[in-house]
Amino acid sequence: MKTQILSGYDGESVRVAADILKNGGLVAIPTETVYGLGANGLDENAVAQIFVVKGRPQDNPLILHIADTPDMERYAHDIPAEAYRLAEAFWPGPLTMILPAKPIVPKRTTGGRDTVGIRCPDSDVTRAIIRAAGVPVAAPSANTSGKPSTVTAEHVLHDHDGKIEAVVDGGHSRVGLESTIVDLTEFPARLLRPGGITPEQLLGVLGSLIVDEAVTAEIDPEKVVKAPGMKYQHYAPQAPVVIIAGSREKAADYIHHFFQPGDRVLCFQEELPLYADCNPLAYGREDDPATLSAGLFDALRELDRPDIGRVYARCPEGGGIAYAVQNRLKKAAAFHIVNAEVAQ
Ligand code: TXA
Ligand code: MG
Repeated sequence: MKTQILSGYDGESVRVAADILKNGGLVAIPTETVYGLGANGLDENAVAQIFVVKGRPQDNPLILHIADTPDMERYAHDIPAEAYRLAEAFWPGPLTMILPAKPIVPKRTTGGRDTVGIRCPDSDVTRAIIRAAGVPVAAPSANTSGKPSTVTAEHVLHDHDGKIEAVVDGGHSRVGLESTIVDLTEFPARLLRPGGITPEQLLGVLGSLIVDEAVTAEIDPEKVVKAPGMKYQHYAPQAPVVIIAGSREKAADYIHHFFQPGDRVLCFQEELPLYADCNPLAYGREDDPATLSAGLFDALRELDRPDIGRVYARCPEGGGIAYAVQNRLKKAAAFHIVNAEVAQ
């Protein structure tokens, strides 16, 4: 099959993409977080194709994307007041809510669960496509399973050219990391994945929030987890990644000591001069963590090459969007972290 590249700034693309979705095909859609691999979320056969193309485990549920907040009532029941408050504050935007699923949502979409993740993305073209298709769009991040997410149409084509009907090119995803996921089927609400809506913002609306253990630690693959996607290896380039924590100077000493030809350093722009002889790649500015979130997956994809030995990575500290960057980078490193203040 030939994958069409549709402009995200052309009204005709909306019609073409919506027709493909209505006919059971796959379209990669731009969103403010990452690109999604979309299909009609109510069509079991179309959804099954997502799992095939992505190489995704069947028990890993998909997020349903809607165009407007009231549509959540078509797919979820017993929606708590908190969900309306969060939608009011953060939709359209990088927030997914886990809610009790109505029977209209196929088990294929929910990975066999009785809950469904719902999100209203902050992308005009994607919301227009969803409206024109008249169905909710089930879409995981468009990367091949286990690989860093796709934040440009080029990334999507790299992974799926010839395997999907179309990709809608809406430019680089603004946030660059997948949505924040909050489970509202229990009280207090539970943070399953940090993202563009920060824990501080959630707390401001909810008043209380439990952080799931999968956010901060490595999960035993045998264990039953709240968000099945969290037990799988994620975001990892081919070479092993190790995070070097500690002060700028101590980290640079450590990395220079162990650096071998063929290794790479993934660092902050402010640190580039320190690693001039270590083939460094900067993914953003430490003093502006939104640039780190926007640049992380570009960098991890660039490092996804067989000829790289080891990646030494620098990780931002603190809350806000940096909290989500830490989560993705730690997962890419399989939680392999060395504290340069005490190691040598
Ligand atoms: O920003 C995003 O969320 C992107 C864009 C395309 O919207 N999508 C995305 O989807 O990141 P995906 O499939 O790569 O990650 C969704 C995560 C998975 O870890 C999955 O297990 C979890 O959400 N999830 C989905 N539905 C769930 C449910 N009903 N209960 C618990 N976890 C769920
Ligand atoms: Mg994903």
